[in-house]
Amino acid sequence: MAILIDHNTRVIVQGITGREGQARTRLMLDYGTNVIGGVTPGKGGASVLGLPVFNSCKDAAASLGPIDLSVLFVPAAGIKEAALDAIDAGVKLLVLVADRVPVWDAMEIAKAAAAKGAKFVGPNTLGIASPGRAVAGMIGGRAESAREWFKPPLPGGTGVGIISRSGGMSSSTAYYCGQAGVRISSIVHIGGDAVLGLRIPDVAALFQDDPQTDAIVVFGEIGGSQEEELAELITSGKVTKPVIAYIGGKAATSGTRFSHAGAIIEGNRGTHAGKVAALRGAGATVVDAFGELPQAVAGVLRSNGSRSLMTDAERRAVWTTGVTRIEPNSVAVRGHDIAGLMGQTSFGATVYLILTGKLPDDKVGRLMDAILVSSIDHGATPPSCLAARTVASTGASLSASVAAGIMSINRHHGGAIEDAARYLGTLLAKARTAATSPGAFSAALDAVATDEVTRIKSSGDRISGFGHRIHTKDPRTARLFELAAVAGLSDQGATHIAAARAVERAFAAIGRPLPINVDGALGAILADLGMDPRVFNGIFMIARTPGLVAHVVEEQTREKPMRRIDPVNHAYDGPSGK
Ligand SMILES: CC(C)(COP(=O)(O)OP(=O)(O)OC[C@H]1O[C@@H](n2cnc3c(N)ncnc32)[C@H](O)[C@@H]1OP(=O)(O)O)[C@@H](O)C(=O)NCCC(=O)NCCS
Repeated sequence: MAILIDHNTRVIVQGITGREGQARTRLMLDYGTNVIGGVTPGKGGASVLGLPVFNSCKDAAASLGPIDLSVLFVPAAGIKEAALDAIDAGVKLLVLVADRVPVWDAMEIAKAAAAKGAKFVGPNTLGIASPGRAVAGMIGGRAESAREWFKPPLPGGTGVGIISRSGGMSSSTAYYCGQAGVRISSIVHIGGDAVLGLRIPDVAALFQDDPQTDAIVVFGEIGGSQEEELAELITSGKVTKPVIAYIGGKAATSGTRFSHAGAIIEGNRGTHAGKVAALRGAGATVVDAFGELPQAVAGVLRSNGSRSLMTDAERRAVWTTGVTRIEPNSVAVRGHDIAGLMGQTSFGATVYLILTGKLPDDKVGRLMDAILVSSIDHGATPPSCLAARTVASTGASLSASVAAGIMSINRHHGGAIEDAARYLGTLLAKARTAATSPGAFSAALDAVATDEVTRIKSSGDRISGFGHRIHTKDPRTARLFELAAVAGLSDQGATHIAAARAVERAFAAIGRPLPINVDGALGAILADLGMDPRVFNGIFMIARTPGLVAHVVEEQTREKPMRRIDPVNHAYDGPSGK
């Protein structure tokens, strides 16, 4: 959990074809944000970074399904129209990046949002971020920097929530907290305008309810009453988590023009002294200088024994790993005690855990086992087996011989799993763009598959995941799909399995049946399990290793060294099959 955004949040970008829209979408994707498409009126049908562009949010929602969040890289003049489009399409959270949005437009957006139960952050916001998960807007810049600067909570652990009235200082607060060893659950730059969507008290209430947040850090400033309202929430017991704050603008004298439109002092309201007194009176920690804030946060966490504070070992480490934690008498894989997994969790389920960070349910665990079993060995003639046996015949060690086999698993051997997944993904994207409504998706997918088959027939292209040089009806495919159905994966709608079935049907319709092979089935299933395609070749290697070990040992115990291995002519003499 995190507030407002995490890696599952379905995000669109309005203004995706513009200068900032394109640049920031790339950065958001790099960080791991689940951006699923974009909107620019008049540019529907285009694509940016492989994502479909729609003319309106309504079109986007019709094709992509529900949208959780829209980040708007639309200039101030178009922001009202764009925001109302998103709210009308049912988007429940908007991030309004533009500055200089007319106050009247912001008020109309607020009214429309309230009527539809939507929320917005901004205008004039750098955005929101949940470290290690997702970012919406411009916080953190390059993904590598954001990863280095903002320290995420440990799996199942906690961090502090950061609320800032300043864009630049939201990143700086998170950065310096990180330097002090403080982990961060989420960062929210609420924006600097006079009329805002979520304000400090609203965000504090979200952090109060977030189990992953155990303290709230506020970068406030003079003007308005947000900090005073937070003090009231603390006094009334609605915010009970520790609050540590800095209030900017102490040096501003009467008549000073501050950069943010919301930083207006009217009479005695909104003064620096008033805010500090209100927060301290409520029990919050308020530092006098920004430079004291990180240590003050660390001090509060230390006195509470909070795991939001990194241990000395974690801080001293020059690099970190999220895969395995080794401590005296304890080994944990992705946060799960290994002794607890042993005897309880199958090898397939544990492979899924180590690759995704999530422990699957029993059905997905069984499917993972089946996937590994399906690829344990594919005969004595595939390149990996021939390579392993050839090297084994020279007297090489087991490790060198098996490594030779593994080294031959590449794009054209084993790589078809990843290729098939990516290929089926492109068919789904095309069908999403072509479908005029969610109900029209299946027909659009069939049409896309038919076009593809026609194209392949005329161009002579080969596609990964279909057909086999030996099997016309691959025995493993049907079983894998059966188990996938049991695990809850669907062969209908916008799934990779549905796309694979559509291609299979299209080939059958032209009288050239080309069934899905085991690589196609694995690619479709692994993609529908939500796994990262970059690990698919690795899953093939994990599965194939026992087969290679068996071949190497057999080669070295049965055959003469340096024999000439016939790549084709061999016979099986093992136990007869059941
Ligand atoms: C929002 C902002 C970043 C956009 O800048 P930009 O990317 O340079 O602007 P561009 O004109 O290149 O792109 C805007 C796109 O929005 C599109 N757009 C306009 N109205 C739209 C609407 N209703 N829906 C979706 N897109 C829309 C435009 O068509 C344009 O795309 P195009 O270039 O393909 O035609 C800029 O106006 C701004 O406000 N910058 C300051 C941000 C800031 O500092 N915020 C505070 C941080 S603390």
